[in-house]
Amino acid sequence: MDFIELAKKRFSVRGYLDKDVDDSLVMEILEAARWAPSACNNQPWSFIVIRSAEFKLRLQAVYNRTWFLSAPVIIAVCCDRSQSWKRADGKDYGDVDIAIAMDHLTLAAAEKGLGTCWIGSFKYRETCEALKLPENIDPVALTPLGYSSMKEPVKARKELSQIIHWNYFGGKKEA
Ligand SMILES: Cc1cc2nc3c(=O)[nH]c(=O)nc-3n(C[C@H](O)[C@H](O)[C@H](O)COP(=O)(O)O)c2cc1C
Repeated sequence: MDFIELAKKRFSVRGYLDKDVDDSLVMEILEAARWAPSACNNQPWSFIVIRSAEFKLRLQAVYNRTWFLSAPVIIAVCCDRSQSWKRADGKDYGDVDIAIAMDHLTLAAAEKGLGTCWIGSFKYRETCEALKLPENIDPVALTPLGYSSMKEPVKARKELSQIIHWNYFGGKKEA
């Protein structure tokens, strides 16, 4: 599968089959995330793989959707704020690093026929507590991981002409 095909194939899966995902597949997907670039190569990420009924129950309080909890695996992607690179003006690039790792993860999963869904609207404090996170470890994204029970949706994206500017914001392509 070439890259554009894979990028189009991935979609947010909000329905999962009652079918386990082998740990070897989970590890292959996390291996793809491990190779993501990060600012100054600081690699400030941690991946928490949640499989146990006890910890899934804890996650019910942070994002209470049946489809989320029904996936065999949930992965929390966290940023170590003591390791993430900060620009001179103070901007913390940790979220960017995590987003790139997440994208590697979701695309690698799609390539293996598995579904994921970025979850950003989880309850923050409850997540830190549920996953026993130390002070410097900041949860940025959660995703279920499993075999999709959904039909591939028709995806909508803006046209290239709406999002590309030439030379300056609003600039048109020279003839
Ligand atoms: C940063 C981020 C946060 C998101 N948070 C949620 C979420 O909390 N719940 C959810 O169901 N989908 C969430 N999504 C999924 C988006 O709704 C989805 O990616 C978007 O609608 C495009 O659809 P597609 O992923 O199927 O291409 C999130 C996506 C991103 C990138």
